[in-house]
Amino acid sequence: MSKLTKATVIRREDYTLPTFLIHTVELEFDLVPERTLVRSTLHVQRNPQSSDVVADLKLAGEALKLLSLTVNACTHHALTVHDDGLILSNLPKEFELVIENVCYPADNTMLSGLYISNGHFFTQCEAEGFRRITYFLDRPDVMATYRVTLRADQSAYPVLLSNGNLLDSGTLPHGWHYAKWEDPFPKPSYLFALVAGTFVAREQRITTCYGKEKLLQIWVELHDLDKTSYALDSLVRAIYWDEYRFGRVLDLERFMIVAVRDLNMGAMENKGLNIFNAQYVLANAQTATDIDFANIESVIGHEYFHNWTGNRVTGRDWFQLSLKEGLTVFRDQEFSADMAGGSNNPEASAVKRINDVHVLRQMQFSEDAGPMAHPVRPESYVEINNFYTSTIYEKGAEIVRMYQTLCGRDGMRRGMDLYFERHDGKAVTCDDFRAAMADANHRDLAQFERWYSQGGTPRVAVRTAYNMVSRTFTLTLTQHYSGLPPHLVQTQNKPLPIPFSLGLIDAQGHDILLRLQGEPDKAHSATTRLLELIQIEQSFTFIDVAEKPLPSLLRNFSAPVIIEYDYTSDELAFLLAHDSDLFNRWEAGQRLSTRVFLLLAIRAQKNLPLELPAAFMASLSAVLCDESLSPAFRAKVLTLPSETYLAEQMDEVDPAAAYQARQFMRRKLADTLHRDWLAAYSVCGTPGTYDLNSIDVGKRALKNLALQYLTELNNPTEVLTLAQAQFDKANNMTDRVAALAALLALCSRIPTQAQDLAKAALDTFYHYYEGNALVIDKWFALLAKQHSSTGQRTLDVVRKLIQHPAFNLKNPNRVRSLIFGFCLANPNQFHLPDGSGYAFWVEQVIMLDSINPQIAARLTRLLEHWRKFVPALRTLMRAALEEVANNANSKDVREILDKALA
Ligand code: TRP
Ligand code: ZN
Repeated sequence: MSKLTKATVIRREDYTLPTFLIHTVELEFDLVPERTLVRSTLHVQRNPQSSDVVADLKLAGEALKLLSLTVNACTHHALTVHDDGLILSNLPKEFELVIENVCYPADNTMLSGLYISNGHFFTQCEAEGFRRITYFLDRPDVMATYRVTLRADQSAYPVLLSNGNLLDSGTLPHGWHYAKWEDPFPKPSYLFALVAGTFVAREQRITTCYGKEKLLQIWVELHDLDKTSYALDSLVRAIYWDEYRFGRVLDLERFMIVAVRDLNMGAMENKGLNIFNAQYVLANAQTATDIDFANIESVIGHEYFHNWTGNRVTGRDWFQLSLKEGLTVFRDQEFSADMAGGSNNPEASAVKRINDVHVLRQMQFSEDAGPMAHPVRPESYVEINNFYTSTIYEKGAEIVRMYQTLCGRDGMRRGMDLYFERHDGKAVTCDDFRAAMADANHRDLAQFERWYSQGGTPRVAVRTAYNMVSRTFTLTLTQHYSGLPPHLVQTQNKPLPIPFSLGLIDAQGHDILLRLQGEPDKAHSATTRLLELIQIEQSFTFIDVAEKPLPSLLRNFSAPVIIEYDYTSDELAFLLAHDSDLFNRWEAGQRLSTRVFLLLAIRAQKNLPLELPAAFMASLSAVLCDESLSPAFRAKVLTLPSETYLAEQMDEVDPAAAYQARQFMRRKLADTLHRDWLAAYSVCGTPGTYDLNSIDVGKRALKNLALQYLTELNNPTEVLTLAQAQFDKANNMTDRVAALAALLALCSRIPTQAQDLAKAALDTFYHYYEGNALVIDKWFALLAKQHSSTGQRTLDVVRKLIQHPAFNLKNPNRVRSLIFGFCLANPNQFHLPDGSGYAFWVEQVIMLDSINPQIAARLTRLLEHWRKFVPALRTLMRAALEEVANNANSKDVREILDKALA
């Protein structure tokens, strides 16, 4: 698109039914990287439900060459060919349309449509990639059954895969061969997939609860076969979990996963043929960290669960994206929590919940406060790929979770059952999902609609009053939206239904039995209560409260809101020490840290001396040494909120002051708790074979957190020995990469002692793992995230790495590790006051804009919060955005710029 053309805005209110339907699709491919031939035979019918009976047929098509087109076997002359597709006029009611076209996989650097990765063919069709393969009604409410014939050179592409079940395969003249696939389930075009190349599979047969045998396969390049068992095991767990928890059973004869090096996001749920970023498939103890393993389980679960939530029932249009994504994230979160032990292991479930809420607040709350803020069901978009956001995913998951909080687990299950009963095989809306939940539970969920239509993060202000005489405790909850970004302020904000879970704690730290005024005696047993706030302001009075209690608010984070309540620091410390709700214990610690941080940051800005309150350090020390708590939970509590999150809590974001304040906290905590950290480090060893049980994972987390803190000691010389020893002896990647990070951190502390050792370790690591792209990504990321040492800016290192032979701007994983690693994960160095980081960012966005607009747009977003920064940086950031605006062409990047600069 030219810079001058005004971007087309797609609006939800403009939705109309498709005027034509496509019932069956038959595709034939002659796969050649430079020029692939596609023959598509479509059974087309005018949509009987559409009022327009003379409409033209508009087929989307991009970067294609049309060779021929027939309607009922005759050349069709009422045809016009455009840049973005075809228009056919004078069509009968029902007909067979045959199209032959060419597409160009080898030139496809956008990774949307049919492309080549490491010499193999892959497709990516969500959201609008199918139109880059052939002309089609490329919209999710057009569902068809597909039969696919793949033809290719047999020696170069021995494996030919597509959706569904294999019908036939065989050889062809000239060293070619073919495979025919059929997917019996009607699907939208965005779920189509093909893969062709040289792969091997790890496979397993399982029997479903209906007694049917299924074939599961994980396809990878031969040298990766030793890294596939965890993925396969995770898939088996996901399949059984969905049967047990939601009664959803695998429908196809086989289920395949293929790993690819080049993918714009995590993974894709194509029917029966999931395509995964290698990062979320390949793992063994030597190559992957504990976190990588956890991510694999969760992404495998996520894509598998899409088979029902997304594929069997899909979205009517892209405004309904959260219908499948929010719901499927909720499902994968529940899956991971259950795999961590579920209700049998409340601490492990709490850690999972803490991680999920952490992501939500870090990413989604921040998004919600900026120019890209949008409701979970957006009203408009320019480029749909820009709307695969944490609002759609993570806030969407919280909305689904609230149905479960309100209706209970059984109610959730009833609602889901009804949803599938009503809508299997259909393309539906978020309203349909809500209606199923409401009807199955005989609840009025009309007001709940506002969670979908209203953007921005709601706030709940809490006031409390204790009456000694009547022994009552009254909470007044007021919901409001303040601090919304300007483009959301216009929209009406009506009260939401907010499930508000809470407890009251006595002076001994025990939960009080809760009885609301007017309630019968028998309700007098719970210590956690769910209040439903449905008006702007409501009061709730608890009776029989013998002493003034301390409220534990929004237990387990029962709604995605911000709580405003003026706890004293002593009260937060008390909650941190005593709350029976583990989530809220962690939360109290985070609030305390944030509060301490904000005071320090202001002093840092004014160059005043810094000091850390002794009480704060004592509270953290108590948790660190509390052997009754799991190491995993302790590690969560002792991890300070991220630099970026903390900086965003300032009135004006000042990355330098934020860095200084947070570093000061880390140093002080390191020195003061020196002994505790050393003790934790030595107690939390995990000798013997690497194991992924939650105890060992937790121990490694706490041990490596201890190591990280210890590098901040006043005199970290001994820690150098510790880190080096850990690096040399590690029998797994978690410990090895943590040791390497520690060595790098020590370079900025004691450069003369550490630099040579760190350099040697980095080289050893690189050469040992040279053939493993995923591990080399870790190497790039470590270097991008390092603090400056001996006056050398990290940017200078990053610029050198851009020239490194292993760096490749066309590979999204590499871009994420080096460029995002620096611009996103190293805020202090990225936001240097000389603007050098922004100049680098401008260059990279412009280069990526013409290679891969989706990735370029994500990089563009890193400056969207420019208005919130201190004036000096704000000016530089604005200039950087404008420079990109003068040079970028993709509508992906332009949409972000338009919103950021508006
Ligand atoms: N539907 C994918 C998911 O599971 C997300 C997705 C959208 C995606 N576009 C993609 C994945 C492009 C890989 C490449 O969430
Ligand atoms: Zn998804």
